[in-house]
Amino acid sequence: MMNDATNFAPPKVTLHGIHRSFDLGRKSVVAVAPIDLEIRQGEFLCIVGPSGCGKTTLLRILAGLEMESGGQIDFVHDGRLSTTGRPRRENSMVFQEHGIFPWMSVRDNVAFGLKSQGVDKKTRYAVAEQYINKVGLGNFMDAYPNQLSGGMKQRVSIARAFANDPEILLMDEPFAALDEQTKILLQEELLRIWEETQKTVVYVTHSIDEAIVLSDRVMIMTARPGRIKEIIDISQYFPRPRNVEEIKGSATYGEVYGRIWSALKEEVFAHEGEVGGATK
Ligand SMILES: Nc1ncnc2c1ncn2[C@@H]1O[C@H](COP(=O)(O)OP(=O)(O)OP(=O)(O)O)[C@@H](O)[C@H]1O
Ligand SMILES: [Mg+2]
Repeated sequence: MMNDATNFAPPKVTLHGIHRSFDLGRKSVVAVAPIDLEIRQGEFLCIVGPSGCGKTTLLRILAGLEMESGGQIDFVHDGRLSTTGRPRRENSMVFQEHGIFPWMSVRDNVAFGLKSQGVDKKTRYAVAEQYINKVGLGNFMDAYPNQLSGGMKQRVSIARAFANDPEILLMDEPFAALDEQTKILLQEELLRIWEETQKTVVYVTHSIDEAIVLSDRVMIMTARPGRIKEIIDISQYFPRPRNVEEIKGSATYGEVYGRIWSALKEEVFAHEGEVGGATK
């Protein structure tokens, strides 16, 4: 997918004043302040922001795992607008901890979401195997999670997320626990599969690096209550298909990095010293 196309692509999801508060004893904590945002069809959107600013909460709302306190979300399903709908739920979210089942083989883990969607065995195994091959685990179809490294387990999660064919792929710091080399390999794999499948991805990360390398746009959130501070269009700097190392070696990279960090820094320091500020 080329960026120009993504820039002018129709919206996939539109948030109108979406907000979320939590009751904490007698007090109410505003986790997400009203957010207006348009996420385009096929876009790779990264979200960065200080700890506790509501990123996970926002993803969970998008996944339908958490209700918003107010506002409206419009989804486009098969070209039709739905103002009440949610994206399909089946594991469209990839978490930091891979969340795969230890008692199931790689094949069954990846096919799991399809099984709960009622897809027959032959079809779901065929789809699962296709994605297991794509993430480079072709020789590990019958292996169990305890026979895999952390990076391999995260590959299983990614294969499962794509195999479910979700409307939107929601990823919450999926590579945060991985070593640098594995992370770069998986970022490249993710980009390749994303380019092939043209999924809409919303990806939360603490890493500015990762946000630049992966995304079409980076959305920077303020300290809690999380609002949109700035959205930076990355696609204008780095065309697709991308090569992670090339991007990191380019002069523009430092510039873009500086711009994101200076916006983020104000928010990270705004949060410092606040009692309970970093609680999860
Ligand atoms: N179920 C809950 N009940 C009460 N408060 C919650 C709940 N979930 C989240 N919060 C509060 O909402 C705020 C935002 O939390 P959230 O997990 O969305 O932050 P985050 O941006 O993902 O942080 P991090 O970067 O540390 O993962 C926090 O203050 C948190 O304490
Ligand atoms: Mg979080």
